Amino acid sequence: MTRIAIIPGDGIGVEVTREAVECLRAAWRVTGRDVPLDLLPYGADHFLRTGETLPDAALDALRGYDAILLGALGDPRVPDNRHAADILLGIRFKLDLYVNKRPVRLLADHLTPLKGRTARDIDFVIFRENTEGLYVGMGGLFKKGTPDEIALQEDVNTRKGVERILRHAFEYAQARGGRRVLMSDKSNALIHGHDLWQRTFREVAHDYKAIESSHMYVDALAMQMVKDPSQFEVIVTCNMFGDILSDLGAQLQGGLGLAASGNIHPGRTSLFEPVHGSAPKYAGQNVANPMGAVLSAAMMLDEIGHDEEARLLEGAVVGSVLAGRTTRDLGGGLGTREVGEDIRRRIMAARPS
Ligand code: NAD
Ligand code: IPM
Ligand code: MN
Repeated sequence: MTRIAIIPGDGIGVEVTREAVECLRAAWRVTGRDVPLDLLPYGADHFLRTGETLPDAALDALRGYDAILLGALGDPRVPDNRHAADILLGIRFKLDLYVNKRPVRLLADHLTPLKGRTARDIDFVIFRENTEGLYVGMGGLFKKGTPDEIALQEDVNTRKGVERILRHAFEYAQARGGRRVLMSDKSNALIHGHDLWQRTFREVAHDYKAIESSHMYVDALAMQMVKDPSQFEVIVTCNMFGDILSDLGAQLQGGLGLAASGNIHPGRTSLFEPVHGSAPKYAGQNVANPMGAVLSAAMMLDEIGHDEEARLLEGAVVGSVLAGRTTRDLGGGLGTREVGEDIRRRIMAARPS
């Protein structure tokens, strides 16, 4: 039987996850499935109360779920972000969720800030390497707090890690009849780590001759994503660049409130979450857009094979967007709760295809 773990986390993560969970329940009600959801308490409140971030036993228990849906982590009461690093990066690393899939898809023309662009122009996916790079936490401080202080943060790139994310990007493109995969790095400056990306990309591309492979340095790519996003189908890049580019991509489709993501190890327990964070200044005000969380739940449904329900969620979100039943970040006048209700009304009204 399918089992899902829910980690609402902090700030607006709690509010958007509540709506996403209710939307999941609505979709399963329509299709007649009964899926148990386990709500887990991990986040800033739990950490401040108990000193616990994500205990090993909880991590082990997570492996027993089909998927995890997460809100966001980050709280000003934990200034060093320790709990978020342990929970979010901890799950990504320890469950080896090496694919961070972040689609950039414009749902309605009026949402993009790019002049003259339509939904036909903005539809690509960013694959972000999710277990290596600058995120692994290797390095350290020497002579901390003195004028001679040294801070080292190592950029870890392994042949295995680079190859598997590149291969995943090509496999994804191939499975969808895609034509193009673009790899982005900074090999003109990062002459060791990103040289590995260059060489591995050439080798992997060789195995997918029907797919056009190309490269852009990440600075040029940031410019091109704004200048002409229609040229992209699949972008694959390292952990840090993928983080930055996916916020840029989020704005192309209408803002962080809409952007969905999956942290995936194909065939294993994976974690789905909106791209945005906990936005502490909006927490508890019923203003956060829940659509990114609902679309992340739809990605999760696709991954666990609940395709009908995934289409119900996506279709309902598109319906709410087109009808202007949105939060204020998308120009509407509704609250988080009311947008969730509007999406659920559309889910319940739809018949599964
Ligand atoms: P953020 O994504 O939380 O918010 C940035 C801005 O984006 C907000 O001020 C708001 O204007 C907009 N925004 C984000 N989500 C929105 C939504 N659902 N609806 C409407 N507008 C939305 O980024 P930040 O302010 O840089 O970070 C806040 C905290 O979240 C930090 O602690 C950070 O580390 C954490 N964070 C966590 C995750 C995660 O858990 N995956 C991701 C990003 C940031
Ligand atoms: C994201 C976030 C995280 C990241 C932070 C909270 C560590 O920005 O998921 O995009 O950088 O991966
Ligand atoms: Mn980010």
